[in-house]
Amino acid sequence: MKRLLLSTLLPLAFPAWASEPSAQRQQQLSALLDQDCGSCHGMTRKGGLGSPLTMEAMRELGDEALVATILDGRPGTPMPPWKLMLSEADARWLVRRLKGETP
Ligand code: HEC
Repeated sequence: MKRLLLSTLLPLAFPAWASEPSAQRQQQLSALLDQDCGSCHGMTRKGGLGSPLTMEAMRELGDEALVATILDGRPGTPMPPWKLMLSEADARWLVRRLKGETP
């Protein structure tokens, strides 16, 4: 419960720029998306073992649900949890990237 509260309240308490990953981190995240995520979701994210992560598919889903899926994975499916490697700010940036909201 506490964790849920934190993840809903923090983005309101801190402006988006405060939790934006550094430029260097953004490069690492882009590479991760192409290579690691791409190995299941496809280099062009049209899907493979993993479901399509296209902009169209992502725009229909809420940010919170997507961030939670990335950090916690989907138990019972091959989608692994990434929270040991990615911070919540990282996951949020990836979601914005998937939705085409980053430069
Ligand atoms: C080992 C394969 C694998 C890897 C690596 C992987 N995924 Fe997934 N992912 C899946 C599968 C399979 C699903 C579909 C799970 C289901 O059936 O609900 C999924 C689902 C998702 C979803 C939910 C999509 C939806 O339509 O609800 C998101 C978002 C996602 N993955 C993002 C990522 C990101 C970001 C990465 C890299 C950090 C990643 N995945 C790496 C296999 C993978």
